[in-house]
This record gives sequence, C-alpha cells and structure tokens, in this order.
Amino acid sequence: MRDMKAVVLCAGAGTRLRPLTFSRPKHLLPVAGRPLLGIALDTIIAAGIKQIALVVGHQAEAVQGFVGDGSAWGAEVSYVTQEQPLGLGHAVNCAREYVGDCPFVVFLGDNLLEAGIGDFVASFRADEPEAALMVRPVDDPRQYGVAEIRADGNVERVVEKPAEPKTNLAIVGVYAFNSSIFEAIDNIQPSARGEYEITDAIQWLVDSGRPVSTTVLEGFWEDTGAPDALLRANRLYLDRQQHRIEGTINGVSEANGMLQIGTGTRVYDCRIIGPCFIGDNCVLHDAVIGPHVSLGDGCQVRNSAIEDAIIQDSCRIEDLPAGLKRSVLGEQVVVIGDAQGNSPLHLILGDMARIRVI
Ligand code: G1P
Repeated sequence: MRDMKAVVLCAGAGTRLRPLTFSRPKHLLPVAGRPLLGIALDTIIAAGIKQIALVVGHQAEAVQGFVGDGSAWGAEVSYVTQEQPLGLGHAVNCAREYVGDCPFVVFLGDNLLEAGIGDFVASFRADEPEAALMVRPVDDPRQYGVAEIRADGNVERVVEKPAEPKTNLAIVGVYAFNSSIFEAIDNIQPSARGEYEITDAIQWLVDSGRPVSTTVLEGFWEDTGAPDALLRANRLYLDRQQHRIEGTINGVSEANGMLQIGTGTRVYDCRIIGPCFIGDNCVLHDAVIGPHVSLGDGCQVRNSAIEDAIIQDSCRIEDLPAGLKRSVLGEQVVVIGDAQGNSPLHLILGDMARIRVI
C-alpha cells in the first residue's frame, strides 16, 4: 500500500468559542501551554505520517504563521484553502488533488486523543476496509455524529447529530479513507444545515456495500469546540505534564504538585497548587494559582486567586482575591478588581479586553 497522507481540517470559524476566536483561529488556542493544532500534528507524526495538508479558511494566515512548512515537526506541510464553510465533506474534497490516490487520515484539528492514532492507522492499513472510524460511548450523543454498528464491527448506519440517537457511540473526529470517499462526496447533497456532511459521505459508502470498520477509542477524547471542553482538555493535559521549574520562586512562596514554570518567571509570596503551567517571563505577587491553571508568557498577577483557567500571553490580573475561576482569557487582557469583592468571577474574554471593578 502507498504511504499514508493526512488532511487536517482547521478552517472552521469556532463560533462556540467566540469572542476568543474573533482574533485567532480556535486551533491555535492553547491547552497546558500548547496550541491545539500543535498537539494534533504531534499525534499525526507519532503515527508515522509526514505528508500533511492543512485545510485552512478562517484566519488562515495565523495557522500558516504557526505551522510554516512543518519542518518544526519533521513534516512536509501543504496548505489547501476552503473558500466557503460548506461542511466537513466539502473541506475534505478541497484536499482531493493533494491526496491523489493515497490512503489518508482526516483529522479534525480541534480533537484531542490521549491514545493517539498509531493503532488505528496500523489496523486500517492491515485490514484495508474502504474507510475506518473511531467511535466512543458518550453521555449525550446528540451533539455528535452517531454510529450504529453490526456484529462484525462494521458500520450499519451513521447519522449526524440525531435528535433521537439509536446508540451512544459518538464518531470521533479522526477518519481513515481511501480515494473512494471522493466518489461518495460527489454523490451527497447538502444537509438540513446546508453543509456537505462527511457523515453522509460515509453512509453513501455503506449503502454502496463497501466495508466501513470501527474501532472503540480508549483513553480521553475531547472535541474542544466550546470553552468548557477547552478547560476540560487543559485539566487533562496538565494532569499528565512533567515537572520543570526554570523560573525563580522566593522562599516565602509555597509550591506543590506538578508544575512547569518557564524561564525568567519570578514568583513572590505566592501559593502555587499544581498542576499548573506558567510560561516565560511572568511576574506573580501575593497570588494563589491553581490547581489547573495555564498562564501564557509575560503575564502579571498580583493579589489574586486563579483556579481552573487558561490565561493567554501578556495578561494582567490584579486585586481579585475572591478568584477567577473556570475562565479563558485571550492575549493582553487586563482584569482589575477592587480587592474587596467576595464573589469569584467566571470570564470568557477575547484578546485585549479590559475589565475593572468599580
Ligand atoms: C464533527 C462531525 C461529527 C463528529 C465530531 C467529532 O462535528 O460532524 O460527526 O462526531 O466532529 O468532533 P462538529 O464538532 O464539527 O460539529
């Protein structure tokens, strides 16, 4: 069989993550200090796939600026533009010329999988079905594609976001295809939401009698399309991070648990409760940070408590002793409390927002 390629879909506007995504593609939002797309590329490379096309649209320049030619990952990265947001089937079709007649993986750039895709790719190559899906039991399947599976493990039916799901098996955002998926895409119509659904193309393969295999995914899986899921992913990655302190923590401070503290960062009279990721060149004074906090580079925090949060580069947080919790902040955000407030704040703020309690 020919070498596999990968097509990473990162054209979406990330509407459920607004306002964070007004000035940044959702695929570059960080969890535990690393952009989602960087983690996705690591996962693909770990499965031995080096030829990768990124399907870009919304904020394409930022994605290209981050990944470049892929050499930082040891990959050969090409770019394909999806001019209009017409669905995942349409996005895959944009990469048709790039893929040619190679087998390929489609990876939704906002999906995070603990187990990686190495075993999935290996069994696709060994068994040679027409297409392969990963599925995962979930509590509320209505927000996903849902699969019904036959006794032999192959797909019987797949339905996109059904109001009354027949099973609890969500379709994970990683698929393996060969070029027959393009024939399937040619034969589908837009769905009720006006999109060419990859799920409908997979159903077309099934209806044409082609085997579509399934693997039940082990380990955690997050589709980080909304703030709560992004925070959940941040907690999962922080729980698995190594301990590495490069900055300085003064003697009066207390620091416990797994921590990463970057170079040039100075911590004075603080309590840091791991796991936390604190970037480079931050200054923290009289603060309680953690657990599950990611702070970008160049942040300043004074007289405040922060828990379960993603704070991006160059933010300033002052006088919030009651705390900032379950929050996601863009870059260069300033939040200044009045030091007396008794209630914690829960904030989702885009780049350069300014909040002052008066
Ligand atoms: C997409 C797919 C859906 C799949 C999900 C996984 O949905 O359409 O079938 O279950 O990704 O992340 P979206 O998250 O784009 O709404």
